[in-house]
Amino acid sequence: MIKKLVNPLDLSIQEYQHLFETGKTIYESPQNFTQLANSKILATLFYEPSTRTRMSFESAMFRLGGKVLSMADTSSSSVAKGESLADTIKTISNYVDIIVIRHPKDGSAEVAVKYSSVPVINAGDGAHHHPTQTLTDLFTLYMYRGKVSNNSFGFCGDLKYGRTVHSLITTLARYPEVNYYLISPEELQLPQHIKNSVLEVNPKATFNETSQMEEVLPNLDVLYMTRIQRERFFNEDDYLRLKDTFILDKNKVNMMKKDALIMHPLPRVSEITYEVDDDPRAIYFEQAKLGMYIRMALISLMLGLNTNR
Ligand code: CP
Repeated sequence: MIKKLVNPLDLSIQEYQHLFETGKTIYESPQNFTQLANSKILATLFYEPSTRTRMSFESAMFRLGGKVLSMADTSSSSVAKGESLADTIKTISNYVDIIVIRHPKDGSAEVAVKYSSVPVINAGDGAHHHPTQTLTDLFTLYMYRGKVSNNSFGFCGDLKYGRTVHSLITTLARYPEVNYYLISPEELQLPQHIKNSVLEVNPKATFNETSQMEEVLPNLDVLYMTRIQRERFFNEDDYLRLKDTFILDKNKVNMMKKDALIMHPLPRVSEITYEVDDDPRAIYFEQAKLGMYIRMALISLMLGLNTNR
């Protein structure tokens, strides 16, 4: 049984493929899975705001016939009285079969694993990793393209603190013929340790770095837009200076390939104009929907449930 998903590389490439196939089966025939997690309970512990990750996990568990205990924020729990993460996890893992945790501190999901007696899924820890967003992103590619390999990816925005970017780039290193275009202001460039993690897996990987998105848009098969994250800045002035560095509008989208895909983990603030939503290449809301199905597959896998139907 898989005990943790903290880093996206905790799952093998074969397990990713299994999840994509299971997610697709569930997407096509959800009625066959409505009793699968009967009598199982999932806890969502969110120490940081969320819409998609928490609610898609909860919806996924309900759609599998399971039940959910939710801590949507810390104010209504004993965390507000000063309870440690270790004590919270030791307690909650007596009540449920699987825990999903989001926390603002890097490394906190690994701490949860240490103190939990049930499987733990990292739903985002600080600027570190967000592995189920990566599952969502790769499942979306699988559903649209049938494959992950042979694509040129452009990552745009906050590449320094963006955990969705860190997890996705790290995982893409396992797939052949992937090109990376990194579009960010100098202050928000991809950290060297993430580049190193890619180079460890694929020593031939190259990173094309630019601060001018127009220069690279025509080369991309996938544009992965991200938000400049106010909550990760130490200085409000820096955030205000950088927040509108990249805005994808209709004119810029017209520079892209006709069959390119525009993705975004969401939430969006101002980095994609609303007019772009109507372009068939803009698939970020479908991406968020597919996230629920791949989480159904993941919960099933981590609870050891038989998805053969
Ligand atoms: N993509 C993502 O993690 O969204 P939420 O913050 O709304 O969960």
